[in-house]
Amino acid sequence: MTISSITLESLNRYTNRFNQLSDLWLEDLINQNAERDDIVPFIQKDTAYFLQFIVKIMQPKRVLELGTGIGISTLVIASVLPVGGQITTIEREERFIKEAKENFQKFKVENIDLIQGDAAQIVPDLEGSYDLIFQDSGKQTYPQTLEPLVQLLQPGGLLLADDTLFPAMDLPDRNHTTQLVIDEFNKAVKNHCSLESCILPIGHGVTAAIKVDKENLTY
Ligand SMILES: C[S@@+](CC[C@H](N)C(=O)[O-])C[C@H]1O[C@@H](n2cnc3c(N)ncnc32)[C@H](O)[C@@H]1O
Repeated sequence: MTISSITLESLNRYTNRFNQLSDLWLEDLINQNAERDDIVPFIQKDTAYFLQFIVKIMQPKRVLELGTGIGISTLVIASVLPVGGQITTIEREERFIKEAKENFQKFKVENIDLIQGDAAQIVPDLEGSYDLIFQDSGKQTYPQTLEPLVQLLQPGGLLLADDTLFPAMDLPDRNHTTQLVIDEFNKAVKNHCSLESCILPIGHGVTAAIKVDKENLTY
């Protein structure tokens, strides 16, 4: 096998044999919804494992998520938060909100605060700061919300954005604008004066950025 024959799919197939989520019901929830075409796509399994791994390391008390969908990534994060930890998640589509709330109730996860509305409008009005922010809403909102999200991040806090390898993927023409928008977002993150970042080949790509004071860096 040459290295060039490795694809994101083949990597994911392999890593999925090793990575395990915290709860069997989460694995089931992901598997049961995987083939549905009446909902928006949710995080890839290995992205879910990665999110839980990060939450276990960071032990964040305050998490913000943009793009709840039917609540799968919210539950992935909420289920491993430390005692007293809370996730605020924003979603604009009524039909997904209904299903997300049903899922939160069904699995008795209570440390979730769901805000209905357009993340681009809600984010600038949020108060306090967050240890971890997960951006997974409409791709058009990625560049638009970057600055207010950086303002909301605690120093040392982590911003994770999903699907950021879209520009590197061979996608149908209709995704061209999305690819350009994500490319714009990745450049803005890379060049941001308060962020240290990298792009990880997990799922459809995850951009990870820590809020730092670049003037005080020793390298
Ligand atoms: C990729 S899905 C989220 C999936 C979810 N994070 C998961 O993995 O389970 C993107 C979601 O963002 C929502 N969305 C898109 N643009 C939005 C916006 N501007 N404000 C709030 N929600 C938005 C969509 O309705 C959709 O449910």
